Amino acid sequence: MATVSEQKLNLLQQFNETRTRTLKLVQTLEKDDFVVQTAPFMSPPKWHLGHVSWLLEVVMSKTISNYEFYSQEFSEYLNSYYHQFGEPHDKDKRGLATRPTVDQVFEYFHMITNKVANILQNDSLDEKTQQLFFMAINHECQHQELLVYDLQHLLADRYRPLTKNSAPEQLKQESQTIKINGGLYKMGYPGDQFCYDIELPEHNVYLNDYKIDTYPITNMQYMKFVDDGGYDDFKYWLSDGWDKIQNEKWNAPMYWEKIDGEWITCDFHGKRRINPNEAVCHVSYYEANAYCKWAGKRLPTEAEWEKAACWDEKNQLKTIFPWGNESPDTVHANLLESYIWSCAEVGAYPNGKSHYGCHQMIGDVWEWTSSEFSGYPGFKTGFSEYNDKWFANQKVLRGGSFGTPSISIRGSYRNFFRLDERWLFAGFRCVKDV
Ligand SMILES: [Fe+2]
Repeated sequence: MATVSEQKLNLLQQFNETRTRTLKLVQTLEKDDFVVQTAPFMSPPKWHLGHVSWLLEVVMSKTISNYEFYSQEFSEYLNSYYHQFGEPHDKDKRGLATRPTVDQVFEYFHMITNKVANILQNDSLDEKTQQLFFMAINHECQHQELLVYDLQHLLADRYRPLTKNSAPEQLKQESQTIKINGGLYKMGYPGDQFCYDIELPEHNVYLNDYKIDTYPITNMQYMKFVDDGGYDDFKYWLSDGWDKIQNEKWNAPMYWEKIDGEWITCDFHGKRRINPNEAVCHVSYYEANAYCKWAGKRLPTEAEWEKAACWDEKNQLKTIFPWGNESPDTVHANLLESYIWSCAEVGAYPNGKSHYGCHQMIGDVWEWTSSEFSGYPGFKTGFSEYNDKWFANQKVLRGGSFGTPSISIRGSYRNFFRLDERWLFAGFRCVKDV
């Protein structure tokens, strides 16, 4: 267990690294890029920069008596959905505001960085305050990932990353499914570092025996569903999903386009032929669910996913990550700091496989589960309006993506999105009952 001063040092280090990474992500943007909103579901880069700084002000307001926010105008524009701080600015109109200006937002960003760094360096922080600042850092990591989704939508290969690495080679693939024995499984975060309120408390869940895919579903597998007329047959679809694909005229994952008889995608590497061996990405819950029905399988529950990812059957213990308790590194998983800017091929991270032998459960794509997003039994809110007001009409995704900063992911992490969202880096793997 880390001592209080070790934790404080860790806090300052994580804060500095996170603020630096935010700036690096936008370092090569042109000023015009910061302001534009290309779809209602994305936000202009300027807004992300300001909002993560504003959330630090929110934490300061909770921990410093009579804290005064920097500016009423900034607070109104940068408030995402916190009614306790006034009426939030309309999300789909973030790209219509020319004020605060890009320069003003940068000035604000640096001012807040200095203010918080001073607090983290100088003050004796109690445990609760430290946890709130850890939360703000993790919040900024979440926005770094959202910013990456948005940069793909805004710029695709016109975005110039400071670092761009090649994906590791795919190795020979192993068997396709793994049997997991059922019984009682204790799900939730087992460690002593920061986690979100929604990962707690640990609690028992009963599972039947099941078989889970060794790899996430690949583009090649998904293409068979598409080419088999999967998007043309109502029998694979949830009613809402069928309405959605009819209304939006979806016939493949987002960013896919058929040109001269060939499926092409558009991402940070430009317009390119779909790589059959990469995990399928940019599918909604509806699409993942329809594929499973077509394949005669189903999505895992989040408990099934977590057990396959983190349970060490041989030693009868749960680890924080699929490979053990060691923090994620580029040898384990394709996360943001791998700077590959797309999925790797399945099987490319043998060092990251789980105790059961499941590959790439962390990194590459978030994986849809069939679980409704709600609080675990005994849930206690850690921060009003952050997570628990979303306990309706969302599904849980697990595992992180190639856009997730490594300090912010773990086996117990629960992401959540509405069932029709697909600009995020989301895919899935299937399970089958035995
Ligand atoms: Fe936020």
